[in-house]
Amino acid sequence: MNTVLAIHGSPRGERSHSRRLTEVFLQAWQAANPRAVLTRREVGRGSLPHVGEAFIAAAFYPQPEARPLSMQADLALSDALVAELLGHQRLVISAPMHNFSVPSGIKAWVDHIVRLGLTFNTRQDNGVAQYQPLVQGKKVLIVTSRGDGGFGPGGEHEALNHADRWLRTALGFIGIEDVTVVAAEGEESAPERFQQSCAEAQRRLLALAETF
Ligand SMILES: Cc1cc2nc3c(=O)[nH]c(=O)nc-3n(C[C@H](O)[C@H](O)[C@H](O)COP(=O)(O)O)c2cc1C
Repeated sequence: MNTVLAIHGSPRGERSHSRRLTEVFLQAWQAANPRAVLTRREVGRGSLPHVGEAFIAAAFYPQPEARPLSMQADLALSDALVAELLGHQRLVISAPMHNFSVPSGIKAWVDHIVRLGLTFNTRQDNGVAQYQPLVQGKKVLIVTSRGDGGFGPGGEHEALNHADRWLRTALGFIGIEDVTVVAAEGEESAPERFQQSCAEAQRRLLALAETF
């Protein structure tokens, strides 16, 4: 059965363009897949803690199979988020650009799901770290909105884009390589072009919903 996990990353609610565009996609996807499962995970509106010292100590404990109970408790949320990720075939991440990167809730979610021994492994090969991704068969759609423009491939600000490009890096690190980005650009700098950009993003999302 087709399963989608939707990660909602904007701190804005009703006014969020990335959320609105994501809903356009999800409604069309649900219409095309009436029996599919959709799970939502809110990370943009203050509901996900950032990882702290207890998490780090527990996640990198040298004998994971002998982790003390208190450390297991420190990883409970992360374990649940990893299980949620692994339990779905597809991910839809709505993430506006914030300071050339992603909102902090998305960063926190990534910090929870990139887990040694669960979603990646590393080994040393003559002093060089070799990365072993452990996640297979996932497909991701990133829906983003940006205040300015030119952050896409070939754009004048492409090199400043550490948002969806960073997400590709982090997801690729755990084995998720099939990533599509749909962006609306210019909300703050070019309102008229932004309307066109949203319309174009919406067209792409409706087409993608048929095959996702
Ligand atoms: C804290 C913050 C930082 C932002 N940083 C950028 C930025 O670096 N580049 C940019 O183009 N827009 C930036 N913006 C504008 C947002 O990307 C833009 O408003 C976007 O449409 C927000 O998406 P949303 O409506 O889904 O929340 C920033 C907005 C906020 C609130």
